Amino acid sequence: CANSSRYVWGMEETRAHLGERGRFSHKGSHGKALLIGGSQEMPGSITLTTKAALRGGSGLVTTGTVPQAIPSIAAHCAEATYLSLNADDRGRIVLQDVDVSGYDALAIGMGMGREQATADFTRKLVSEANIPVLVDADGLHHLKQDMRILTQRRHPLILTPHPGEMAMLTDFEVKDIIRRPFAISRHFAIEYGVYLVLKGSFTIVTDPEGNQWVNTSGNAGLAKGGSGDALSGILLAQVMQQQNIQEALSLGCYIHGMSADQQVTSNHSMHDLTASDVIDGLATVFRTLS
Ligand code: APR
Ligand code: MG
Repeated sequence: CANSSRYVWGMEETRAHLGERGRFSHKGSHGKALLIGGSQEMPGSITLTTKAALRGGSGLVTTGTVPQAIPSIAAHCAEATYLSLNADDRGRIVLQDVDVSGYDALAIGMGMGREQATADFTRKLVSEANIPVLVDADGLHHLKQDMRILTQRRHPLILTPHPGEMAMLTDFEVKDIIRRPFAISRHFAIEYGVYLVLKGSFTIVTDPEGNQWVNTSGNAGLAKGGSGDALSGILLAQVMQQQNIQEALSLGCYIHGMSADQQVTSNHSMHDLTASDVIDGLATVFRTLS
């Protein structure tokens, strides 16, 4: 696409776009997030997303998951509220209606598993939700069953694949994604009219017009299960607090990586860093930036 451009997103851009928390702001000013994911066997990822959405600045966070997972998530996140979803006998979300009115944005997909009834649920909710929606992890596999949902949505859709998930979505091989991340992302974002966050050592945010911003923060300590789940929560919090979705996504990717960078030069190392440490590190990130 001749008219789209590539940019670098770093500390200066992040500082320039990070919103202030005004003296008279209230929880409604910072957005009401709905997070949907988890299953009996995978309660951890949605726990991380919930914590990250809270630490990322959301005004209110509601997590919709299977009843079996709620006690363990709630034990880690006292500040969230919970929506108990219908589950099958193995603790996986099944097809049902969820009312998204009253929420400002939805993130879905983390730790859901790939059961068909769960995939049917994700596809229905993503196609009906009239708010910005972020889809990650298993949710990307669910969407792949019907890619028309991507183009039919009238509200912003954000996909956050790692290279393996991007290969699955596009039918390329992972080595192609690694070799041509810009071209493949741009083509995909334009074709489906979505915001694409292609994760990796240099995460690329592409808007629906094909413009691209490369993130400059982060380190190999993030190459560990759970970092992506934390990113989803951070991104959703920013999507609710920023006017511009691309800026929200680039800012979110930057602060996620910046937290990891600060943690490995202070309390932690790339060896031991966990997603929980990245979430804890947001305190220093926000203090440094503001
Ligand atoms: N440098 C900088 N950032 C990195 C690096 C690196 N070397 N490696 C990973 N990251 C960042 C990515 O940019 C992304 O933000 O860490 C995050 C990893 O996200 P995911 O790949 O989604 O990881 P996550 O979902 O937490 O865990 C991997 O995904 O496909 C499944 O089965 C797989 O359980 C595994 C899980
Ligand atoms: Mg992931």
